Amino acid sequence: MRQLHRANNVADLRLMARKRLPRPIFDYIDGGADDEVSLRRNVTAFSNYELVPDILNDVSAVRTGTTLFGQPSRWPLMLAPTGLTRMFHGHAELAVARAAARHGIVYSLSTMGTTRLEDLAQAFAGPKVFQIYIFKDRGLTAEFVARCRDAGFHGLALTVDTPVAGNRERDRRSGLSLPPKLTLKSLLSFARHPSWSLPALTGSKFDLANVSRKIDALASGPMSLFDYIGGQFDRSVGWRDVEWLAREWNGPLAIKGVMTPEDARRSIASGATGVMVSNHGGRQLDGAPAPIDQIAAVRDAVGGGPDVICDGGIRRGSDVAKALALGATACSIGRPYLYGLAAGGEAGVDRALTLLTEEFERTLTLAGVNDAAALSRGHVRSRENRRDMA
Ligand SMILES: Cc1cc2nc3c(=O)[nH]c(=O)nc-3n(C[C@H](O)[C@H](O)[C@H](O)COP(=O)(O)O)c2cc1C
Repeated sequence: MRQLHRANNVADLRLMARKRLPRPIFDYIDGGADDEVSLRRNVTAFSNYELVPDILNDVSAVRTGTTLFGQPSRWPLMLAPTGLTRMFHGHAELAVARAAARHGIVYSLSTMGTTRLEDLAQAFAGPKVFQIYIFKDRGLTAEFVARCRDAGFHGLALTVDTPVAGNRERDRRSGLSLPPKLTLKSLLSFARHPSWSLPALTGSKFDLANVSRKIDALASGPMSLFDYIGGQFDRSVGWRDVEWLAREWNGPLAIKGVMTPEDARRSIASGATGVMVSNHGGRQLDGAPAPIDQIAAVRDAVGGGPDVICDGGIRRGSDVAKALALGATACSIGRPYLYGLAAGGEAGVDRALTLLTEEFERTLTLAGVNDAAALSRGHVRSRENRRDMA
């Protein structure tokens, strides 16, 4: 716990996570697809934007509240869905959700999560979103919709950038198997991290709690997640399926994985209420643009109403301010809270969120902006455009 307070930023939490986790598990969180170009670019693209401050505005109080998925959020940040959370810390999704509740922000639970959506909903009163897929078996997806409605979820995020699993070469190299098993290749790394390995390997078993009882293939025997993804994901999903899901759910729905203004417009026309501009944290199509670079065009395409969420690469509160100035409603984070979780469970997630909140508020104050909603394009300038103009 004392150590967590020594983390001055998300990068410090990442180093703590790397120390605590066996290398294959850390790499599963930290890594991306192919050459990890998009993974790196998602983060570095933020430094191409300058924040242009106003001066002599009264910033004695700074308002940060917003509305996301129709729910109040204390500040414009949400937690992106991440699967297999129990692998990173035994307290899993409930620890993350509890920290989200304390910070008054939206939590999203992955279909690939290790906690049943009903259990999550019971334990977490805050705003919650379920990340859904359109499976080959549409009946299974419809069943998820009904379960989410019954459990009181406020919104759905439909992930559309996973027609096949991305090529994660760190996982191939490490021989990572899901759920983790002691293979010869990983034995050394697991043995070096007994504080993770013993509880993880002997404690409650890894379970894709929301799907394992539903998917016959999974229930009938051990099978790698990669095989499972290959088998269940439907490459034929199209816009008609989005229209169908929007009708079935009839509530706040974001399409996660939108990259272009065209697809953003089409998402809204198909019944979605928002888009998550995302390349899956650089874990799917390597070479896809950085989300931050697409925000302004996406906002221009969909107009003022829909939620536009910038997902991926956020490592500082100032990154959130830049995304908002370009037109985002909010940002979402994956790795930053997972690093915190791995470093110190719920307290680690809390530390990540506290650091980001403080950074965001300090950024607004220094930029002379006393209401996050007042951030506008005038507060941000692209260095690349400046070079073009020179
Ligand atoms: C370990 C891990 C697991 C993830 N699992 C899922 C998932 O199950 N479903 C999904 O839509 N996105 C998943 N994502 C992607 C995140 O929702 C999000 O798009 C991404 O982490 C954002 O980038 P960031 O990590 O730079 O914040 C996962 C990301 C990570 C790092």
